[in-house]
Amino acid sequence: METQDRLLIHGGTPLSGTVRISGAKNETTKLMVASALLDSEVVLENVPHIGDVDITSELLQNLGATVHYSPDKATMRVDARSLKKHEAIYVSNRGNRLSILLAGPLLYRFGQAVVQKPGGCKIGDRPLDLHIHYLRALGITIEEEGNVIKLRGTLRGNTIAFPYKSVGATEGALLAAVYASGETVIKNAANEPEITEQIKFLQRAGSLIEYDANQDIHVHGVSRPLHLDHPITIIGDRVEAISYACAAVASNGSIRLEGIQQHQIITPLTALRQIGARIAFDGKAITISRDHTLKPLNVETDPYPAFATDYQQMFAVVLSLASGTSYIHETVHDNRFAYLGQLNKLGGHFEVSETCKPFANCRFSSLHNHTAKIAGPMQFHGGMAEITDLRAAFALVMAGLLSSQPTHLSEANHLLRGYDHPIEKLTRLGARIELG
Ligand code: EPU
Repeated sequence: METQDRLLIHGGTPLSGTVRISGAKNETTKLMVASALLDSEVVLENVPHIGDVDITSELLQNLGATVHYSPDKATMRVDARSLKKHEAIYVSNRGNRLSILLAGPLLYRFGQAVVQKPGGCKIGDRPLDLHIHYLRALGITIEEEGNVIKLRGTLRGNTIAFPYKSVGATEGALLAAVYASGETVIKNAANEPEITEQIKFLQRAGSLIEYDANQDIHVHGVSRPLHLDHPITIIGDRVEAISYACAAVASNGSIRLEGIQQHQIITPLTALRQIGARIAFDGKAITISRDHTLKPLNVETDPYPAFATDYQQMFAVVLSLASGTSYIHETVHDNRFAYLGQLNKLGGHFEVSETCKPFANCRFSSLHNHTAKIAGPMQFHGGMAEITDLRAAFALVMAGLLSSQPTHLSEANHLLRGYDHPIEKLTRLGARIELG
């Protein structure tokens, strides 16, 4: 993996060609953690070569697991039978969202766990109250001490009603419930495709999980150890796919996306078509190009299957090219517009506000800058900017690709944490971009 931390981009070329979409970051790392519940080795295929996978490997290895990753073959073998420690602590100063998800597996294995509070992108407060909520509901005693959470107890099934559809809390509750005695009901569960994949993984390994008509998840605790005897193939990364789709439209090129399932990206594909994209489907791929002059669109982020918060950054760049005013209403993370200030350094003139207008009020109204006004068309001129977080990274790269002058971006590590071989993939599409 590339290690340099700065990007230099010379813009002006439309991106055209084929991109093979890599395995989903947010499935891979979750299955790596779920492996800690199994009494067998787990073999994962289509594993992306990204920083977040390395961070999760270190976290598991520090607990005593064996992780063998072959980037050339995109396969990984995780064997957590050798787990020796109950402390999920990051070994370097790099963190991600995964430590808290180890609470359930470590409690099952050791009856206790110490979990470092998760890190990851700084896109809001990202409290842990919902994680504390499901762990307490399942009978666990919890003490918070500085940067760690200490947990102790025996997992017992219960009903967990989430006030918000949290991806991490749903996943954590599932991992904690698999061996909990009796039945656990997870109400208002998040429903992202990567969660479905986690449920499929747990079911294949022998757990008892079902949905009811309200899409609440019922987990019947098992006592027989979970076991897998075949490899699991990671699904395509829908955020990576939409990132390249947006780059095609913004640069007025044409990109054929391979390795992505249409049903996972129905909502953002429609948004792209409404803005002015041409979308062509064939048996194997989805090809995105520009159809007509770009039009403004108002977009609101929400849990799946609605428009994901992880897409809005790339859409902000696409919408900045349309004549007219668009708004993006971010209702998932409370501080996810820091990157707009960086886009403004490159020639944008994005504005953010605490009101929800023109959308209905949400839980962030008058509290956080969470609505962006995009009065297009804008013209990026290059310059210097700092990458603030993972998805911001791709949006800033897109602005660089549209600029008349060179663009220098610092903190490229954010890009490499979540995108597989972005420099190679973009270069193959015609971009002039280098790390250094
Ligand atoms: N929340 C709470 N309390 C909790 C947990 C969450 O208030 O205990 C709040 C969060 O602060 C946020 C909202 O609930 O306002 C949604 O958070 P969620 O738990 O769904 O997010 P996450 O699990 O921390 C994952 C992805 C994010 C993605 C979100 C939403 C991973 C590793 N990360 O985060 O992906 O934005 O779900 O879909 O799965 C990315 O890939 O760039 C990324 C940030």
